[in-house]
Amino acid sequence: MMFVEGRLLEKPLRWGMVGGGKGSQIGYSHRDAASRDGLMQLLAGAFDIDATRGREFGQGLGLDAGRCYADYQAMFAAEATRPDGIEAVTVATPNNSHYTICKAALEAGLHVICEKPITIDEAQAEELLALSRARQRVFAVMYGYTGYEMVHQARAMVRKGELGDIRIVHMQFAHGYHATEVEGADPGTRWRVTPSTSGPTYVIGDLATHCFQLGRLISGLEVESLSCMRSSFVASRAPLEDDAHVLMRLRGGAVGSLWASAVNVGSAHGLKVRVVGSKGSVEWWDEHPNQLKVAFVGQPEMSYERGHGYLDASARFERVGGGHPAGYFDSWANLYRRFALAMSSEPAAREALAGAWIPTVVDGLEGVRFMVRCAQSADAASQWMPLERMRT
Ligand SMILES: NC(=O)c1ccc[n+]([C@@H]2O[C@H](COP(=O)([O-])OP(=O)(O)OC[C@H]3O[C@@H](n4cnc5c(N)ncnc54)[C@H](O)[C@@H]3O)[C@@H](O)[C@H]2O)c1
Repeated sequence: MMFVEGRLLEKPLRWGMVGGGKGSQIGYSHRDAASRDGLMQLLAGAFDIDATRGREFGQGLGLDAGRCYADYQAMFAAEATRPDGIEAVTVATPNNSHYTICKAALEAGLHVICEKPITIDEAQAEELLALSRARQRVFAVMYGYTGYEMVHQARAMVRKGELGDIRIVHMQFAHGYHATEVEGADPGTRWRVTPSTSGPTYVIGDLATHCFQLGRLISGLEVESLSCMRSSFVASRAPLEDDAHVLMRLRGGAVGSLWASAVNVGSAHGLKVRVVGSKGSVEWWDEHPNQLKVAFVGQPEMSYERGHGYLDASARFERVGGGHPAGYFDSWANLYRRFALAMSSEPAAREALAGAWIPTVVDGLEGVRFMVRCAQSADAASQWMPLERMRT
């Protein structure tokens, strides 16, 4: 999918948000990404658990006061009665609320973009998958790192067999921001270390789901079984972990390993995926996202650069030419552009989308299944557990 600047849709998708209010960690990223190409227009919101603060925030963004709602129920009900009501909604609230809000959104006939992990248990995620299919709505998941061009270069090299048979997939998302008990002063971390809001895990759902998805996307391999060990190095976080290590058997005889951590002192973000095959290897690191380390047996390591003619077509989505750094916001904007095209009812949208990959509720369910199974394994003395494939 080449980047084409210009008017791809006759009318931008009418869009709303639940969560992502004032001071939230991730609200701005959604708004920035969705507004980049003019394919989505923010018209309504229930931005905050505090209704007054949410209304004020929405008006501060320039929304009509009448479309800044106290809660998502009021928003879905009122918007459904308007001829210009929203067509899609982003859900960017803490993990435990995703299921009920997404379910209500689908039942209101809306396309959904949901944060990860999409739910805190498998049954809820399976239900959302079934409901999105029954209602024929697009359900996208904000695995925001999957919009980077060099991730798709790595994927293309695996698919073309350039690395040979895949043997090893190593994934990590290990930052160092929470090496001490920061949650005392930070509500955004506090809910993450509280089971009732975070779910059965902290770093596994919060961080591992991202690198797990990158590993699946690049390698094309699914996990057959896993063994997990988790620790609460800041003891007050127990039973939730701030560090986890997972060993995996992958389909086709490959093996995988994953390290998720919030106590990796000295690491800024530490999100990396390395895929090793019988002929070569690739390694991508989100702190240097425009490069992909590539090596073939018996040859020195190379660094492939974004924006060059030798890359696969799927990796050449150039908002700006090679040599200029593209980054986090561009990855998100690439995804939101595709979400808008996938969700639009305009016939030209499908053509413009051209089959480009997007993360969907299927990937969201796999992430939840991984998260839940890791917790079960860790709590059963790291017992190996099967990770059943989707039955759908
Ligand atoms: N994709 C990514 O890279 C990424 C990064 C950070 C967070 N996240 C995910 O995004 C979600 C939100 O995380 P955050 O860090 O922004 O949290 P946060 O605590 O910083 O912000 C949450 C926001 O949601 C609002 N809110 C809570 N319950 C609500 C409700 N019922 N209705 C309306 N608004 C409500 C809060 O008032 C706040 O504005 C989480 O699921 C998290 O895992 C994803």
